[in-house]
Amino acid sequence: MTDLEVERLSVRLRDATRDEHERTESSPFVTALMDGRLDRQAYAALLQQSYLFYSVLEEAGERWRGDPVVGPFVSDALVRGPALEADLAWLCGPRWRSALAPLPATQRYVDRLRAVCFSSRSAFVAHHYTRYLGDLSGGQIIRSKLRTIYGLTGDGVRFYLFDDIAKPKVFKDDYRALIDTAPWDTGERTNLVAEANEAFRLNRGVFDDLGKALGVGWTGSCDR
Ligand code: HEM
Repeated sequence: MTDLEVERLSVRLRDATRDEHERTESSPFVTALMDGRLDRQAYAALLQQSYLFYSVLEEAGERWRGDPVVGPFVSDALVRGPALEADLAWLCGPRWRSALAPLPATQRYVDRLRAVCFSSRSAFVAHHYTRYLGDLSGGQIIRSKLRTIYGLTGDGVRFYLFDDIAKPKVFKDDYRALIDTAPWDTGERTNLVAEANEAFRLNRGVFDDLGKALGVGWTGSCDR
């Protein structure tokens, strides 16, 4: 076995997505959110788009729940759908569902999830990893900004609260061990890394569309 083959896949994945991660976390929308230059309505717009792609990601999770290879990645503690529903109802009012409309990048993201995550185990884990490990990492930094800058502590930020994960670091280490020990073949390992980079690009597209929409005046709606 060569050195490359013994390298942990989770380490290769983190290294291979580092550049895309940096570009994503420094996108204008994310920077503006972190700097406190956005209002709650812009934050609600992010959650609206998130709801649309998490719905598909979590539907794919249900498809793989009992799978011997990727079923162990599917954890109830991660599921974000109900938290997003609660946040949107609180931020946008009871008619929040009628205001949902995908931005073009969100539609591309949702289409990609539908195209690959229901048939490919490695693609599913690539998208699952990109969102949930991100939510448990940078997401927690965003959560603290939402508290200090936007005054949101519980209602409105349930998306960032993982009540059933007491120690995110331990959870993330266990998750990386799952990535390392799953019986991937070479093609799947390659695909997982490539699709994770695609997942980052798709996420950045959503941030870019949100940034553009805000720049020209956001035309969606959120009642409150
Ligand atoms: C304000 C924006 C963000 C900041 C400040 C940030 C920061 C971080 C930090 C500090 C880590 C390392 C955590 C650790 O070692 O346990 C991390 C990991 C990660 N982030 Fe972000 N992040 C941001 C946005 C995002 C976004 C938008 C995504 C995906 C859409 C994302 C995906 C990830 C992933 C998948 C990891 C895990 C890397 C690994 O250990 O394999 N992050 N982030």
